[in-house]
Amino acid sequence: MANIQKLLRKVKYKLFGNPYYKRQQYQGVNLPSFRENQGLSENEDYLQSAVEQLESIQPHKAFSHELCFLDFGCGQGRIANGIQYLKLPFHTYTGVDTHELSINWCKKWISAYGSAYQFLHVPAYNKRYNKQAEKLQVLPFEDNSFDMIFLNSVFSHMITADVQFYLDEFSRLMKTGGLLYVTGFVEEGVPEMEENPENYISENHGALFRVRYEKSFFLKQFTDRGFTIKDYNHQGIARTKQSVVMAIKS
Ligand SMILES: C[S@@+](CC[C@H](N)C(=O)[O-])C[C@H]1O[C@@H](n2cnc3c(N)ncnc32)[C@H](O)[C@@H]1O
Repeated sequence: MANIQKLLRKVKYKLFGNPYYKRQQYQGVNLPSFRENQGLSENEDYLQSAVEQLESIQPHKAFSHELCFLDFGCGQGRIANGIQYLKLPFHTYTGVDTHELSINWCKKWISAYGSAYQFLHVPAYNKRYNKQAEKLQVLPFEDNSFDMIFLNSVFSHMITADVQFYLDEFSRLMKTGGLLYVTGFVEEGVPEMEENPENYISENHGALFRVRYEKSFFLKQFTDRGFTIKDYNHQGIARTKQSVVMAIKS
């Protein structure tokens, strides 16, 4: 039965194209037709979700023609599309993800904006997004390479050991004075870390769907690694109820 379904899908893709690789042109940018993001099926909502995040960063660190930007767990390049739409200045944008289909989509449709947009598939283990990979991977970039590192909804799907691994990496990769932007499920008066806590926000949709952190424990992970907390906005992303941490490498 599974084989027949596979075959039918192959024939359908051959005739009509693989929907995953399709795009919709909207306001001068390429948006994915098939979207991994929840609740962003409307093009305007999709684009505005990126615009709002980018605009919230501006008071803390301005984009410039010298800026090297790392979008870790970039998915289908939602924030890259925001940068392109707003015509923000930057030197390089690097999107990294463990989900190969997403990176392939970005290479096809976002790299088309120009060579300053680079994408890299790094097959790191994640129980939700890449179970085939064996372990986490050191990121293949030199020390002090980035002025801004952005993670939307990535630590929200990672356990403590993984968060600590990547914060060590970001401390190595970030230039002094660089800005780290992270969203996550963060609350007070809860255990240090809990995967899919019962009755939290909505029903559970599988492994690492919502990894929730206790606020002081979460922020300590940053300060322990040489970051100073510049701003904390509890449930600052209204759509996902994730909180926003902005921290500077001191
Ligand atoms: C909820 S999606 C968010 C995508 C994107 N940041 C956005 O805002 O649209 C989480 C992303 O993190 C990626 N991810 C999870 N663990 C990762 C890891 N260890 N290395 C790289 N990417 C990872 C997933 O593959 C997925 O694309």
